[in-house]
Amino acid sequence: MTSVAIVTGASSGIGAATARRLAAEGFHVLAAARRAERLTDLVAEITAAGGQATAVTCDVTSDESVARLAEAAAQAPGPVTLLVNNAGGARGLDPVESGSVADWQWMYDVNVLGTLRVTQALLPALEASGSGTIVVVSSTAGLTVYEGGGGYTAAKHAQTAIAGTLRLELCGRPLRVIEIDPGMVKTDEFGLVRFEGDAERAAAVYAGVPGPLVAEDVADCIAWCATRPEHVNVDRLVVRPRAQAAQHKVHRVGQ
Ligand SMILES: NC(=O)c1ccc[n+]([C@@H]2O[C@H](COP(=O)([O-])OP(=O)(O)OC[C@H]3O[C@@H](n4cnc5c(N)ncnc54)[C@H](OP(=O)(O)O)[C@@H]3O)[C@@H](O)[C@H]2O)c1
Repeated sequence: MTSVAIVTGASSGIGAATARRLAAEGFHVLAAARRAERLTDLVAEITAAGGQATAVTCDVTSDESVARLAEAAAQAPGPVTLLVNNAGGARGLDPVESGSVADWQWMYDVNVLGTLRVTQALLPALEASGSGTIVVVSSTAGLTVYEGGGGYTAAKHAQTAIAGTLRLELCGRPLRVIEIDPGMVKTDEFGLVRFEGDAERAAAVYAGVPGPLVAEDVADCIAWCATRPEHVNVDRLVVRPRAQAAQHKVHRVGQ
């Protein structure tokens, strides 16, 4: 029977690439996000390529919406073996001194409470499958801090804490917990969301960087971790572009 994988934040970037990749690996993918039209297009694309996917409109900040995602998972045509908590993002690059409380709240709601809510809702199905995998897409921002990143790094540190805590709490049950921590990934929308649609500011993040990661690189990491034999738990996978040795050490051509 086809295994079912749920990917949150599947309407763009890393989530969309992960949905495509997992479908190519043979999963029936439940692609979840708020923008229904984008999900419909993604599902059509996956289906045309011979894969299986279902679009599920879902806001991870809403209990009711996440409950509907769990209902969709219960109706899916196979055991739910994989959850990829990918929905998230950053807002603003202001110092702690002047950062917007609303931005911080948004980041905490989506990245942290979204992961909590979706994981709680899907855990029974993942366990019932006999071998469930929970992936948490955190960030290198969950491992270190940087100036202007206070709200995002705080949220990603909390997401990282969820992954570590959950692995301890679930030990002995047929569930594994994998944390993926990407560095700089050039996706279409991450920077636009962070800088309120300011394309120039968003593009400047990657200026001169030879070979930033792309969404497919992270999808590849997620797929590799999720398709290891069930007794193998890759606790944490940190992945950066070669040009980024650390958060503060980025090689830029011509600078
Ligand atoms: N890009 C990077 O450099 C980078 C590096 C490290 C980690 N990450 C992490 O990787 C993940 C994906 O990032 P990305 O670069 O692919 O960004 P992205 O293209 O902006 O994707 C974010 C996704 O999250 C979804 N989302 C946002 N709010 C949501 C909500 N309330 N409910 C459901 N879905 C929601 C968005 O879909 P809708 O708007 O349709 O809901 C979108 O599909 C994030 O967790 C991010 O923090 C990114």
